[in-house]
Amino acid sequence: MSQRADTALAPDPVAQTPDRGPKHVAIIMDGNGRWAQARGRPRLFGHHAGAKRVREVVECCPALGVKYLTIFAFSTENWKRTQVEVAGLMSLFRRYISKEMKALSQRNVRVRFIGDRVRLDKKLVGLMDQLEQETSCNDGTHLTIALNYGGRDEVARATKRLARDVAEGRLNPDDVDEETLPKYLDTHVLPDPDLVIRTSGEARISNFLLWQSAYAEYEFIDTLWPDFSAEELKRLCDAYGQRDRRFGAVKP
Ligand code: FPP
Repeated sequence: MSQRADTALAPDPVAQTPDRGPKHVAIIMDGNGRWAQARGRPRLFGHHAGAKRVREVVECCPALGVKYLTIFAFSTENWKRTQVEVAGLMSLFRRYISKEMKALSQRNVRVRFIGDRVRLDKKLVGLMDQLEQETSCNDGTHLTIALNYGGRDEVARATKRLARDVAEGRLNPDDVDEETLPKYLDTHVLPDPDLVIRTSGEARISNFLLWQSAYAEYEFIDTLWPDFSAEELKRLCDAYGQRDRRFGAVKP
């Protein structure tokens, strides 16, 4: 039997690339704490399990035709958690970056971070810069990690920069329109998300990509993030392909 026929008999569960699938998927990875709690383990155990899922999801993107993946790792509101959890998460991010740097580079993943770096520790910011630099020539999956990110904070920081450009004569206030502000957002090089997924059964967007998701499709699913899988992402991408996006227009 030829290699081709063999492959046709045993299709990879995520191998078909749907033309109508989302090009940019954004995910609110929720439910790590409850996943750990259900196993009688500390919350950080759930975050570590969640970090393992990130790799699987990044790896299945090319087969699904997902060119951009944006994940919410730490919000501007997450500082309200206990000092132990915040420190544990920061340490997890440092470890993740150090450990995954080579694999992400080799898999042609381009990594970017969005969010305010000012409050993050210098060692973490150094690793973030290094990972961005290391993967800057890659043109496969564009992975964006939102870290100390909040949509309102992002718009406020963008507005501050825009106001400075107006004050210093680089921008005419009469030229400010819907095309102008996104150029000042952290996501200025990314397309808007097509599909936003939130795991863990909560139906809210928690300050994630507020401007960018104005016309995104949403999926709120019950699965806790550490149980999320490539198969589930494929199912959601297929369902997206069935949706009729009109962007406010009426079908002719
Ligand atoms: C929300 O679950 C999850 C977070 C605040 C952290 C997300 C972080 C990861 C998935 C870890 C790894 C990420 C990277 C990029 C390495 P929760 O703690 O609010 O869960 P709960 O609602 O069940 O308490």
